[in-house]
Amino acid sequence: MGKNNVDVQASEVVSYDSLLQNKSMHQNKEQCDIQQVSEIIDAEIKRKGRENLSILEVGFGNGSHLRKLSDIYKDAKFTGIEVRVKQVEDMVTLGYDCRLVETEKFDEFFDNGEKFDIMYGFSVIHHMSDPYKSLESLIKILNPEGGVVAFIREHHRYDLLSHLYAITKGTWVYEKNTLKVKRKSFIHTLKKYTSDYYARYDNSPPAMYFKRFNSIQCKLRLNRVPFWNGLTIYAKMEQKDGD
Ligand SMILES: C[S@@+](CC[C@H](N)C(=O)[O-])C[C@H]1O[C@@H](n2cnc3c(N)ncnc32)[C@H](O)[C@@H]1O
Repeated sequence: MGKNNVDVQASEVVSYDSLLQNKSMHQNKEQCDIQQVSEIIDAEIKRKGRENLSILEVGFGNGSHLRKLSDIYKDAKFTGIEVRVKQVEDMVTLGYDCRLVETEKFDEFFDNGEKFDIMYGFSVIHHMSDPYKSLESLIKILNPEGGVVAFIREHHRYDLLSHLYAITKGTWVYEKNTLKVKRKSFIHTLKKYTSDYYARYDNSPPAMYFKRFNSIQCKLRLNRVPFWNGLTIYAKMEQKDGD
């Protein structure tokens, strides 16, 4: 399953819906995701005073987040990267700027000088063989004017329910890198670049049992209440000195 420089960390045939099995739960999850990233985009538009931001989604999967966010932020330029060929082909056919990556060193992939104001992803950093180096390689391609990286719904080494689920579902081969995901190591990495960051668990495990409650909250947009104990990693960088 190795493809040039990267192990393809996903399968074309296996579902990644994790514990969320029904359609309405899936829609709610997506709504929460979109809301979280929209808040970040809105804040960056305000901070930079322009709407034509350059935005990168890492591991866009079936592309539904990227499509929805492109519809909302029409002046922004969205780019997506994925390790799976079919996902890329489908999005390219629809006219999106989506590209196949064959490395986890993203600064090498974008060595043509492209820079991004915002980079985000959902449940993707935990697939990387070295999540911290991958995150740093993304930080290198942030716009020198400043920008944001945000990774949402990341599984982590203490996320026992997700591990159990992946084992029973037969997807552990794609999830095994979650054992490398430590909140403290993300903090250690982000601290090198900014003081405006966080890496926090979304929920306590017992909250997972209140999925229906979460779904009502999401529908009413009362709050951002993710469904499981994922990790959200966020960092905002200021303009680099001398730029
Ligand atoms: C759990 S799925 C999440 C998909 C989508 N973000 C979502 O939330 O529906 C993880 C995705 O990351 C992609 N992926 C894994 N390693 C990657 C890498 N090094 N670069 C880009 N995408 C990657 C996989 O192909 C898969 O589509």
